[in-house]
Amino acid sequence: MSEAEWPTSSAVFFPGEDYIHHDIYPAINAETNKDLAQPGKVVLITGAGRGIGRAMALQYAHAGVASIIICSRTASELDDVESSIKAINGSTRVHKHTVDVTKEEAVKKCADVVKSEEGRLDILINNAGGSAAWTPLSDSDPKDWWRNLETNVQGPYHFLQAFLPLLVETAKKNDVVVDIINVASVGALIVLPGSSAYSISKLALLRLNEFVEAEYGSQGVNTVAIQPGGVVTRLAEQEIDTLRPYLTDTADLAGGWAVWFTKGARTWLNGRYASANWNVDRLEQMKDEIVNEDKLKVKLAV
Ligand SMILES: NC(=O)c1ccc[n+]([C@@H]2O[C@H](COP(=O)([O-])OP(=O)(O)OC[C@H]3O[C@@H](n4cnc5c(N)ncnc54)[C@H](OP(=O)(O)O)[C@@H]3O)[C@@H](O)[C@H]2O)c1
Repeated sequence: MSEAEWPTSSAVFFPGEDYIHHDIYPAINAETNKDLAQPGKVVLITGAGRGIGRAMALQYAHAGVASIIICSRTASELDDVESSIKAINGSTRVHKHTVDVTKEEAVKKCADVVKSEEGRLDILINNAGGSAAWTPLSDSDPKDWWRNLETNVQGPYHFLQAFLPLLVETAKKNDVVVDIINVASVGALIVLPGSSAYSISKLALLRLNEFVEAEYGSQGVNTVAIQPGGVVTRLAEQEIDTLRPYLTDTADLAGGWAVWFTKGARTWLNGRYASANWNVDRLEQMKDEIVNEDKLKVKLAV
């Protein structure tokens, strides 16, 4: 897809057409770039059983973190990801939680177990997500439509509500910045007919991300909402005929981007939206422009 095919408000080419990536590259590749190592950190990833969440878990294994907590509803997929993590880094602790993100009590229980087993949380990645069938509003199934909002908005809310106390405690006790990555979508920024449930859920997530910064930014919490790229995954395959031209990226791109974001306190992105497709060195160069002009937030053009 070229720049002309996207509305400017989609921000797809925010850093310029020459600074777009579709696959992992040295600056964000924890397997080859040892500057990205993050020993001692505890990371929790929802939706880690396959697709983008799985790729993120494996990049954190390469980054040598102390512990990776992987969550989803399918235990067999978590077992497979655990084996892959161990094959990369045998000393990384792995905890598996079969938890439905829409179930408040299950998420609270997960938070209690993480606190007692690890006693800290450095990185929370709200990645679990789904999509209702894409169809015009009057043809949509009301239950399917609303369930999409529950998975993509209520799910991240539950994890934020349950884990922010441990994140803040970790930041304070260790005098560090802790990170949250909310996996949103460029779909939040465009009105593609048929995608109302998915698009609205991701737009809400961008605003939720801004609230986290407003309420916890001064307590050592650094949060970003990302477009992870367009990746052929089970979720994307549902609408493959519509999405095929957009699915040009690897899952490793988002995995690498996450590891880059949490290496060092990149607080100039706090509360903002970013895309894993954007070159991180170029983004660093644009830091002052982003902060001074308060870019990459949800605003009404007036
Ligand atoms: N693929 C893309 O091109 C693309 C583009 C933009 C944004 N995204 C976002 O990227 C994230 C990951 O998606 P993906 O493409 O990697 O899809 P995927 O391969 O289908 O993975 C989705 C993950 O979320 C988990 N999940 C879904 N509903 C859940 C629930 N109610 N409770 C707990 N876990 C749940 C799934 O596990 P279980 O089903 O086993 O629970 C699975 O591990 C999503 O937030 C998606 O919206 C993807």
